[in-house]
Amino acid sequence: MTEAFRDRIDIALTVNGEPVEARVPAGRHLIDFLRLDLGLTGAHASCEHGVCGACTIRVDGESVRGCLMLAAQADGADVWTVEGLSDTGAVRDLQQAFVERNALQCGFCTPGMLVAAEELLSRGTVPSRTEIREHLSGNYCRCTGYEAIVDAVEGVAIARAGKGAA
Ligand code: FES
Ligand code: FES
Repeated sequence: MTEAFRDRIDIALTVNGEPVEARVPAGRHLIDFLRLDLGLTGAHASCEHGVCGACTIRVDGESVRGCLMLAAQADGADVWTVEGLSDTGAVRDLQQAFVERNALQCGFCTPGMLVAAEELLSRGTVPSRTEIREHLSGNYCRCTGYEAIVDAVEGVAIARAGKGAA
């Protein structure tokens, strides 16, 4: 096997603030690395084609489809899953709002929704309902309809803006 066709790649990255080193199959998708190798099952794998958004994670500050990125491509990256964002409290208000608004039923889409919504709200502005819908348009929910989800995200945006102004 030549250097150009190595079937395993050594990677070193940060996951939820912790340094991680691993040797991964070259074709291992990042979502599978997180779920199967690291046991971080918060981000879900569903369509595995970049369509449903269930696998949404944060890589170097941006929402990314974990099923469209190879683990090898995350070498040197700063990766956050919903577990890490929960532990730091970054999405606590969003989680509470989802519960209060009944913005989930089976919850399968919820981790991806939270990560995507947090990306939008981290811009520090209060998005319109249209902007919230557009931002979450790549995250499919088969249970709830989207009204309650948009309600929850809008409510948190307004609450965060109120705190910031106080
Ligand atoms: S599993 Fe990645 S977008 Fe559906
Ligand atoms: S709550 Fe079930 S898929 Fe969204």
